[in-house]
Amino acid sequence: MPVQLRPYEPGDFAKLYALDQLCFAPGIAYSQKMLRYFLSMPQGRCTVAENNGDVAGFLITEEDPPRGHILTLDVAEAHRRSGVGGQLLARGEQQLESRGVTEIFLETSVENAPGVAFWQRHGYRTVAILKRYYLGRVDAYEMRKILPGASTANPAQKET
Ligand SMILES: CC(C)(COP(=O)(O)OP(=O)(O)OC[C@H]1O[C@@H](n2cnc3c(N)ncnc32)[C@H](O)[C@@H]1OP(=O)(O)O)[C@@H](O)C(=O)NCCC(=O)NCCS
Repeated sequence: MPVQLRPYEPGDFAKLYALDQLCFAPGIAYSQKMLRYFLSMPQGRCTVAENNGDVAGFLITEEDPPRGHILTLDVAEAHRRSGVGGQLLARGEQQLESRGVTEIFLETSVENAPGVAFWQRHGYRTVAILKRYYLGRVDAYEMRKILPGASTANPAQKET
């Protein structure tokens, strides 16, 4: 199923909210207020994967170079295991890298085996366990990826 990647538009909001509710358990999924806040952050970016007018998935990132942060990655069940998550992530990483980000962090539930497998497949490694991060009872892995271009990002600094 081919998807088109494009920036978020305000008319997408209801579809993104509905998809997030399906992707995550109650209490972990974003409230409308939180989702609106994340979509409006000046340092945030949202990329949407569209398929025939439907939202197949979306990614929200935020940046504070040299650090980037993945807030959420949601792919509709019907579109999973067909590379949509990977395409969204690749676009997000490119955007972050182009704005000076060299390392990207994220949090994911220790109970989210598909999510952990996805992040590991894409080079994210656990750097900490955040106790009771979700709902006051479920631990999270804090994961990090150092972007491949990081070692050449600041050649002047390397020479000193
Ligand atoms: C995790 C998620 C984003 C993956 O999206 P996706 O579009 O299915 O991912 P891709 O098709 O790009 O998968 C790439 C690779 O990730 C790994 N992967 C993805 N889903 C997996 C699963 N259910 N079990 C094991 N490995 C998985 C595989 O290595 C896969 O490659 P393969 O299909 O060739 O084996 C999707 O399952 C999802 O939206 N889940 C609910 C929300 C969530 O947990 N988000 C991540 C935490 S923020």
